[in-house]
Amino acid sequence: MTKPRLRFFETAAGQQHITDGDKYLYQQPQPSHKIVVIGTGTIGQEHMRVASLLGRAQVHGIYDTQEHSLDVAEANYKTYASNTLVRYADLAAACNDSNADALFICTPNYTHYEILQVAIKSGKPIFLEKPMATDLQDAAATIAISEAYSSFIQIGLQYRYKAQYIEAFHEALSRRSLGEIKTISMSEYRPPFLDKVGQWNKFNANSGGTLVEKCCHYFDLINLLAQSQPTKVYASGGQAVNFKDFEHQGRASDIDDHAFVVIDYANGTRANFTLNMFCHEFTEELVVTGTQGRLVAKEVFNFHQQQGSRATVAIESGESAASRQTEVTYPALIEQSGHHGATYYEHIAFMDQLDGKPVEAATPLQGLWSMIVASAAQESMALGQAVEISPFMTANGLAGFLNH
Ligand SMILES: NC(=O)c1ccc[n+]([C@@H]2O[C@H](COP(=O)([O-])OP(=O)(O)OC[C@H]3O[C@@H](n4cnc5c(N)ncnc54)[C@H](O)[C@@H]3O)[C@@H](O)[C@H]2O)c1
Repeated sequence: MTKPRLRFFETAAGQQHITDGDKYLYQQPQPSHKIVVIGTGTIGQEHMRVASLLGRAQVHGIYDTQEHSLDVAEANYKTYASNTLVRYADLAAACNDSNADALFICTPNYTHYEILQVAIKSGKPIFLEKPMATDLQDAAATIAISEAYSSFIQIGLQYRYKAQYIEAFHEALSRRSLGEIKTISMSEYRPPFLDKVGQWNKFNANSGGTLVEKCCHYFDLINLLAQSQPTKVYASGGQAVNFKDFEHQGRASDIDDHAFVVIDYANGTRANFTLNMFCHEFTEELVVTGTQGRLVAKEVFNFHQQQGSRATVAIESGESAASRQTEVTYPALIEQSGHHGATYYEHIAFMDQLDGKPVEAATPLQGLWSMIVASAAQESMALGQAVEISPFMTANGLAGFLNH
């Protein structure tokens, strides 16, 4: 029998008389792995929380260049876990702790490639946050590293695990409810980039640009649905509202806050992506249309009303099959643990990879393709004209990845 996880009863006051010896359904999994988290800011702490909630790995140690981030992460960790965290004197010590068996790199984008150089010397499995690098050259070098690496590198593109996209992929790609997919539309409407340590996300040089930093998630989803390589990207966008008067250490912010992107794929699929970052709430929408129907996957997160996110998937099939609209969600504890539960399922994939099982987590190559679309869109915005992917890749030293 596969035991269901019944956290509600495990933690209910009225069930605390069950002694450890009598626990069967309430027995919590013993962590079989130990991880070190490098960068304990927003997402580093989310990974600590999610790893503990899942229970398959214990957070063994933490490393950050800012003492305050370590202090806050440790104080928060103590509210839900009991082990003492190891703190390291330097990055090499964090990567090479023989008591830990995997590394989570959760530092700002511009540090990923440099930190990876130290991390790979450990030979340990690595989780590397998205985007894998700030430019295509470092991203391609990361692929070369991962191909030569004795262990695996998983990229933090976890939106594919959001409940509505798991269902959308199932309908569009496994059940093929929409027939042959012809168009894909994706949009994100959201508030501005949040505050960060050193305000790294306000500068293109640190983040790789808005479309690379944030929208690589959506280009990954679109690439997965199109099941083909992009051939041409056209984009228009800029900085209309956000951070126009923002300066950090005398440097003015240069990041875009809105964009419209159109992508042509080799198999004839056409896609578009809309970004607007001067909204009051979060809304994400994916519309996929095929020869047999249309699918709309939508998520609304109204944080001003302190409402959790609500996600729905609708399928319109006309006379060809049943149409429906369903609300999709994960259990509340998982939903609230970060990115509406997506990070939790990303951790399951990482733990499964550690245990040698096949998974559908983001590979470095998929991370590179999400960056190719994002970077081509940024190039198109800068040039004011369409960017053909093949010459764009050749110009960036990526010709070897065409048809890869
Ligand atoms: N997958 C997702 O949905 C998601 C969400 C948020 C952030 N991210 C990514 O995670 C990374 C971190 O973002 P964040 O929001 O947590 O930023 P943050 O600023 O909140 O935290 C980053 C932390 O890294 C530390 N740091 C900076 N340079 C370091 C170095 N060289 N060595 C060790 N620590 C260092 C900072 O002191 C800070 O504590 C970025 O790459 C970002 O794109 C991913």
